[in-house]
Parts: sequence; structure tokens; C-alpha cells
Amino acid sequence: MTQDEQKQLVAREALRYVVDDAWIGVGSGSTANLFIDELAKIRHRIKGAVASSARTAERLKSHGIDVEELNNVSDIPVYIDGADEVTVHGAMIKGGGGALTREKIVAAVARRFVCIADASKLVDVLGTFPLPVEVIPMARSYVARELVKLGGYPAWRMGFTTDNGNVILDVSGLSIVDPSALEDRINGIAGVVTVGVFARRGADVILLGGDDGVRTLVPKR
Ligand code: 5RP
Repeated sequence: MTQDEQKQLVAREALRYVVDDAWIGVGSGSTANLFIDELAKIRHRIKGAVASSARTAERLKSHGIDVEELNNVSDIPVYIDGADEVTVHGAMIKGGGGALTREKIVAAVARRFVCIADASKLVDVLGTFPLPVEVIPMARSYVARELVKLGGYPAWRMGFTTDNGNVILDVSGLSIVDPSALEDRINGIAGVVTVGVFARRGADVILLGGDDGVRTLVPKR
């Protein structure tokens, strides 16, 4: 089965987690896009969606799904999103598409985070995928120097501006053995908006697409 077929499989499986007559949080990226296409088929069952990026909002609307501002929604039973890497413990690297800040905010509001990914995203230790860090533009060089002190090799994602008007540093060379500690450490650097480690609020359910179908992992907390 190809990677795209695996993504399609988990996108469809995620429909089981959609809560009727409620708002749903929707992530960003190619797997989330496939989920949006599936969600469109049952759009009459939900109130609408809260989007984690401008591109996701656009795709939801193009399917006739109502998109609501997060400030107007107090309860999101489920948030569905992809990941760049995920562990069996539910810790993730996210932000390959640059939407990490809004993803982290919607995930924080949601009661349940369902991560949908192809099998290649499952890792023992996070860090092979360069860790995205969203940074206020004037702090870029300072934050980069601080990330070097942590053992990383930051690269400025050239020509890319986030939905929030900020820049991204992609940090390679990190072996993230304690995701929560690194999340706190990088979030504490002045000028950092969001780090792409999602450990403090990790996935509650992981749907992994593979050759044998969908594997469902429920990390213990
Ligand atoms: C975007 C993300 C995505 O969830 C992540 O990059 C995975 O993308 P894809 O589903 O295309 O593999 O965090 O900011």
C-alpha cells in the first residue's frame, strides 16, 4: 500500500471519532486534507469546524462546511490532525506545514486529540524530522543561537511566513528523549511563539495506516 493510500485509510477511519451536533477541530497537511474530504460526506451531522490554518479553513469552506472562529466556540470534543513524527506515547513533532501554533491552540481546547498518520510517522525517539519552531521575526538570530546551545542545527525556512506573520526555524540534530522537557525548554526562549513538540498535550488516540489496515494506539497517561 502506498503512503497516500495509508493516509486515505486513516482519514476515513477518523470519521468514527466525529461527534454529532458538535464543533470539530481540524488540522493541516495532506492527511488532514484527506480527512476534510471525508468529513464533507457527513457535514450535515456536525455544527461545523474550527480550522488550524487558513488553508484548512479554505478547504473546509470549499466543501460547504461551516468554519467558526475559535473565540466563538467553547467546546471541541475532538481535534483531528496529522503529524510529522509520533511515538507510542502520543508525543509528536508537528509543523512541517508551518501551522503548528494554531494547531497547538485548537488541540489545547479539544477534549480529545486523534492523530492520523501513515506508518512511516511512528518513531521510537522524536527528532529525525527537523523540529519546526515558530519565531517572532526580530528574534530569529537570537533564538537560533539558543537552539545551537541545545545541540540543534537551526535552518531558517526561507520564503515562508506563518498565518501569524512569523518565521520558522527547522532544527535538525536533536534526539528528543524527553519531549515534555524540551517543549518547556524551547517555549521558554524569548521570541519563540511555539515549538513543534506536542508532548504536554499529546495525542489521545493514534490511527496508523499500514499494509494491514489501520492500527489504533491509545497511549497511557
Ligand atoms: C502541519 C502539520 C502536519 O500535521 C504534518 O506536517 C503532517 O503532514 P502530512 O499529513 O502532510 O504528512 O503539522 O503543520
